[in-house]
Amino acid sequence: MAVIIKSEREIQLMREAGEILAKVHEELEKAIRPGITTKEIDRLGEELIRGFGCEPSFLNYNGYPASICISVNDEVVHGIPSDERVLQDGDIVSLDAGVIWHGYHSDAARTWAVGEIGEDAKKLIEVTRQSFFEALKAARPGNHIRDIGVAVQTYCESFGYGVVRDLVGHGVGANLHEDPEVPNFDLGRRGPILRPGMTIAIEPMITLGTWEVEWLDDDWTVVTADGSLAAHYENTVLITEGEPEILSLRG
Ligand code: MF3
Ligand code: CO
Repeated sequence: MAVIIKSEREIQLMREAGEILAKVHEELEKAIRPGITTKEIDRLGEELIRGFGCEPSFLNYNGYPASICISVNDEVVHGIPSDERVLQDGDIVSLDAGVIWHGYHSDAARTWAVGEIGEDAKKLIEVTRQSFFEALKAARPGNHIRDIGVAVQTYCESFGYGVVRDLVGHGVGANLHEDPEVPNFDLGRRGPILRPGMTIAIEPMITLGTWEVEWLDDDWTVVTADGSLAAHYENTVLITEGEPEILSLRG
């Protein structure tokens, strides 16, 4: 499969999708508190997405049974919302959401604190977020996909953190997952060159311990192999002639 360069029309639809998704995340953040269940967050997310006239990208994607991936503490990504999972003071929770707007996807994730969290957790969340912005500096035409991964890895490993390797970012557009793959670490090959009109999801998944992960018996939930905390931060990004444009974040 080849990397797709989007037309002006496609880019405009992806801007609109991204703006809606940014608002969905802003609203979900307000709902995060001790005592809420992950199922309640999912229900609110689905209502918000549909309320904006979009479809949830993730619902039924490869059989995924919810609209929002909700991953708590040592869960890295793809946690399944549940009536039994009640957020506790001191937890950290990653929300990953996607919307489809007139046939185009936007994909973004944030990690939030539940109540009062420890200093180590705060720093993990902030470093993970900042690693996205470090990667963004490399997201320019003429650079290669590898430069993005090197930026995330160099930054996060300087704090002694683990950079998850089993899951990667990706192209995004008419499909949720398109070429190219966008690793958060140095694959040792430069990969595709970046060109204006490419739209990619850059999504560092970072841990306080090892980069190694395991899958739970539900076949979805990815957890750290050593039980350490994990954070996730993702945006849909447009490569331009100059500064990259973050489509799924509002100023
Ligand atoms: N944002 C996730 C990703 O790009 C998508 C979740 S996959 C789903 O990897 F199946 F859970 F929808
Ligand atoms: Co993604």
